[in-house]
Amino acid sequence: MGDTMSDNIKVLLPEEELVKRISELGAQISEDYAGEEIVLVCILKGACFFACELAKRITAPVTIDFMATSSYGAGTVSTGEVMIKKDLDVSVDGKNVLIVEDIIDSGHTLQFLSNLFADRHAKSIKLCAMLDKPERREVDVTMDYIGFTIPDAFVVGYGLDYDQKYRNLPYIGVVEP
Ligand code: IMP
Ligand code: MG
Repeated sequence: MGDTMSDNIKVLLPEEELVKRISELGAQISEDYAGEEIVLVCILKGACFFACELAKRITAPVTIDFMATSSYGAGTVSTGEVMIKKDLDVSVDGKNVLIVEDIIDSGHTLQFLSNLFADRHAKSIKLCAMLDKPERREVDVTMDYIGFTIPDAFVVGYGLDYDQKYRNLPYIGVVEP
């Protein structure tokens, strides 16, 4: 892993493709929730770029809150254990919760969050991820909205990091050795 920005990263999804797909998801979500209020829960830090672009394209009334979880540390392999590093500021009791994640990989994070918000008596819970790596799934999670299904490769950019780096790349890329 070099220290120079993006010299060893191959573009998988350019910015235009991401934005186009996010617009489609925004339209779909707006239609599905028409007239209903949404609490959009952005999972920090990875989902922040995606969540902001998505929120701008939702026409149903939206409030936004943030949560941070961890399962990876600095490595690239999930431990399967999910911890809350930062909790929501608002109660989701009786609310329509839309969880917005950067990527679903093993599925542990979204399964954990889905169970958590059910325990907190959310009125409805839907799951949205910018990327899906289905080959890596360890637990069964039903997704409501997926941006792109991608192969089993470690990706960075558009919020996703490798050891906290590359989040600010405007595209999704694959790190090459
Ligand atoms: P899961 O709990 O295994 O589904 O993992 C979800 C979290 O793992 C995501 O929110 C990411 O932070 C991280 N993650 C999984 N795959 C990748 C990847 O390819 N690049 C960067 N982060 C990843
Ligand atoms: Mg991460």
